[in-house]
Amino acid sequence: MSFVEYGDFIQDGDVAIIYLGHDSMMPIKVQQGAQTQTRYGVIRHSTDLIGQRYGSKVTCSKGGWVHVLHPTPEIWTVSLPHRTQILYTTDISIITMMLELKPGSIVCESGTGSGSLSHAILRTIAPTGHLHTVEFHQQRAEKVAEEFKEHRVDHLVTVRNQDVCKDGFGVTGVADAVFLDIPSPWEAVGHAKAAMKKQGGRLCSFSPCIEQVQRMCEALADQGFQEISTMEVLLRVHDVRTVSLPLPDFGPESSVQTEPKTKDEAPPTSAPNHPSFTLKTTTPPREMPGHTGYLTFATKPRT
Ligand SMILES: C[S@@+](CC[C@H](N)C(=O)[O-])C[C@H]1O[C@@H](n2cnc3c(N)ncnc32)[C@H](O)[C@@H]1O
Repeated sequence: MSFVEYGDFIQDGDVAIIYLGHDSMMPIKVQQGAQTQTRYGVIRHSTDLIGQRYGSKVTCSKGGWVHVLHPTPEIWTVSLPHRTQILYTTDISIITMMLELKPGSIVCESGTGSGSLSHAILRTIAPTGHLHTVEFHQQRAEKVAEEFKEHRVDHLVTVRNQDVCKDGFGVTGVADAVFLDIPSPWEAVGHAKAAMKKQGGRLCSFSPCIEQVQRMCEALADQGFQEISTMEVLLRVHDVRTVSLPLPDFGPESSVQTEPKTKDEAPPTSAPNHPSFTLKTTTPPREMPGHTGYLTFATKPRT
């Protein structure tokens, strides 16, 4: 599913993803009269993009082709312009689930950073929820607000340029969930509690270092949070493939012809009709993405 209000067809003003390969994607702003240069040649927005269905294959000026995709939060996470460290899909998926986010949820977040997590939250809480996100770096706050507008999700989010540890989230008693990704989250726990509903709710804090986790857990317990737990989520991607292998030669009794009939014939292993069988193989990962951070979850009880 794409950003909330994007249709099936590419429109002037959309941010579309030019897919050159699974490790090469390029977000572009679609504009009448504009052109985009790719390694396969030029794409002319007016004729090649506007009005085409998302997912279409587009031929570039040098004859090569690309696919043009909807900008989903998952694709945005791997193609967004980085202003900060960002959260990736493995952590994001656990955060969304463990914060119990759903359409209509009211969420407070800080810092906004590059908006990677924010886009995933927005898709989950749409169409009736709201995200209050706080970022104390002015240019980052302005840039992310501009991106929310371009992605047509700005009606679902309020960006505040302030220090969450001093000034809080700018709302009181409304949040179902709070998420923190700042260096000293323990300084924001009081503000997080104040932002949350009387009926209680869930909190998550992301920290790269275990010392930050220890201080945060103490602060959460001091403020009356319950069910405090910390986890680290590591991803192992297994490569499952179908391979085709030649059948073993069972000797002269075998009804299978494995010898070439004439000297001009290709050897049996490469003959198109040489008997073979297919099988699924699974290769565990030889390398894994390393540590990103610890996720500390807690529940604010009803007050
Ligand atoms: C690691 S980035 C957040 C990345 C974000 N979760 C994402 O997925 O793109 C941390 C951000 O927190 C901001 N920040 C740090 N301390 C803050 C504070 N006290 N109040 C508001 N923002 C803060 C920083 O400026 C930075 O942009």
